[in-house]
Amino acid sequence: MAKVALVTGGSRGIGAAISQALKAAGYQVAATYAGNDDAARSFTDETGIKTYKWSVADYDACKNGVAQVEADLGPIDILVNNAGITRDAMFHKMTPEQWKEVIDTNLTGLFNMTHAVWTGMRDRKFGRVVNISSINGQKGQAGQANYSAAKAGDLGFTKALAQEGARAGITVNAICPGYIGTEMVRAIDEKVLNERIIPQIPVGRLGEPEEIARAVVFLVADDAGFITGSTLSANGGQFFV
Ligand code: CAA
Repeated sequence: MAKVALVTGGSRGIGAAISQALKAAGYQVAATYAGNDDAARSFTDETGIKTYKWSVADYDACKNGVAQVEADLGPIDILVNNAGITRDAMFHKMTPEQWKEVIDTNLTGLFNMTHAVWTGMRDRKFGRVVNISSINGQKGQAGQANYSAAKAGDLGFTKALAQEGARAGITVNAICPGYIGTEMVRAIDEKVLNERIIPQIPVGRLGEPEEIARAVVFLVADDAGFITGSTLSANGGQFFV
């Protein structure tokens, strides 16, 4: 039986490319989404990948949602924590709500989702967890104190959990995409994007979602078992750690 992969935020943007690349690589794939029913429906129509609606910020919803996916497809072998949101504002204008929403989804969402699959992975002595962090968790970004804090937290989470999972055949890795040509990035004011951001990318362009998806396929492979706790930067040369 093909291994089962679950991709959060898997019906749009980078997540959609990851879902499709995993399917093309032979995995059974399920994708979650939080709100956009129309996008999820057309994604399923176009790709045949089943979508499930719940918020990764809700612990019980994650537990119940994972149980449903496992009832439909079988035990989850691969979890890609991709779901993420932005609520950008300079810090002096940032509201507690903007802080909380981003932390709840982009950081606590990883706890909620990974907790729901972890025991099963430990019992079966196999698992692959890939956390989609961000260049802005590595370098920080003005206007994103909330997002940068959450994405940096994702890297600490990855490294701690990699140590816990190692003996149980579970690898936990992070990918830090730079600026990728998704709706999230295109929502940035065009002037800010063209005048402040793209000039800082040495390759001179935004990345493609497929360029991140390819890295996920590499990290989740059966023969990638020695790679754990790592952070893979894919940012067009914008930032080196
Ligand atoms: N460093 C220091 N100061 C900066 C700055 C920077 N990088 N960017 C802006 N400022 C300054 C501006 O010069 C300005 O100063 P003055 O008032 O003295 O002129 C002040 O901060 C306010 O800047 P804005 O006029 O841009 O403020 P705004 O309130 O209109 O917009 C913002 C704020 C929404 C955060 C906007 O600056 C912005 O969109 N910035 C880009 C943020 C960004 O990169 N987001 C990434 C989203 S994509 C993503 O997150 C995916 C991923 O993982 C990469």
